[in-house]
Amino acid sequence: MGILQNQTAESLRRIAALYERVKTVIPPMEWATFADDIDAILRLKEQRNAIILAHNYQTPEIFHGVADIRGDSLALAREAAKADADVIVLAGVHFMAETAKLLNPTSTVLIPDTKAGCSLADSITAEDVRLMRQRYPGVPVVTYVNTSAEVKAESDICCTSGNAKKIVESLGAPEVIMLPDEYLAQNIARETKVKIIAWKGHCEVHERFTVDDIALFRKQNPGVIVLAHPECPPEVALAADFSGSTAQMIGWVETRKPARVVLLTECSMSDNVAAQNPETEFIRPCQLCPHMKRITLKNIRHALETMTYEVTVPADITERARMAVERMIAVR
Ligand code: 13P
Ligand code: SF4
Repeated sequence: MGILQNQTAESLRRIAALYERVKTVIPPMEWATFADDIDAILRLKEQRNAIILAHNYQTPEIFHGVADIRGDSLALAREAAKADADVIVLAGVHFMAETAKLLNPTSTVLIPDTKAGCSLADSITAEDVRLMRQRYPGVPVVTYVNTSAEVKAESDICCTSGNAKKIVESLGAPEVIMLPDEYLAQNIARETKVKIIAWKGHCEVHERFTVDDIALFRKQNPGVIVLAHPECPPEVALAADFSGSTAQMIGWVETRKPARVVLLTECSMSDNVAAQNPETEFIRPCQLCPHMKRITLKNIRHALETMTYEVTVPADITERARMAVERMIAVR
């Protein structure tokens, strides 16, 4: 056995307990290819006093192998605010790292790939928000966290898919501007008396699901329960059995324990939830988020080795952007 293989054998031995969590979704041969990076990341985290926040769309070797905190955008924002670490590595997309930095300005926040963006965040600029305010004077602006800090800074309050209805209603206004996800806005409008003025942004992953897909899943998999993210088009969310944030979908599976389920969302989530719920059969249509998939064990390791890439927020917008996120966190 060569030196490299000896190293991998040693890494595999040290991380053996972790494999128990993922053995139903990662074959042993594949796990062996991850072992050295996982082992190195676990040691680097200790050396740097670092934590890794991983979104539910991260691949299982990241999500179950190296993450300290896992969750939807809301959970990651709440946990970032509380984190007592010198370094926070965001295994997710850029807006999540910016939100972590806003809520925890004294920690160094790293993103392993600066190109990990989001089609929703790219759909709107701060100038667009100012123009919306001019067009609808006095109407409060609720901004989805899937936006840049510049856009948050122009907003009254943020929301996530997990709290959007509550946030919209917390303002006590007859109408609100809700940016930038048109489908999330339409899905919330169905559930509230508040009039919602939407923007035209879409998630490039969730906009692909159709009602015909749901009909096919039901036909091919009798009894299947369909859970949809509210970034899906309204007719898709309506045709599903339940619509909620990624964490709410996981909660639904864990409490209701369906025999068969299909999650209309990014495909790594099914792997992550399946690993923890072996009694449920997951039908897995694969819609990848190319931005989430930019994060890998290799670039997380590189981020911790080199302390790159640091995410900062320009000083002139920090306070206003932070206030919009903190107002959201304060709504219970
Ligand atoms: P959640 O807040 O539901 O995790 O959604 C984030 C996201 O990017 C969905 O596409
Ligand atoms: Fe953005 Fe959609 Fe990817 Fe989520 S899944 S990060 S909303 S592009």
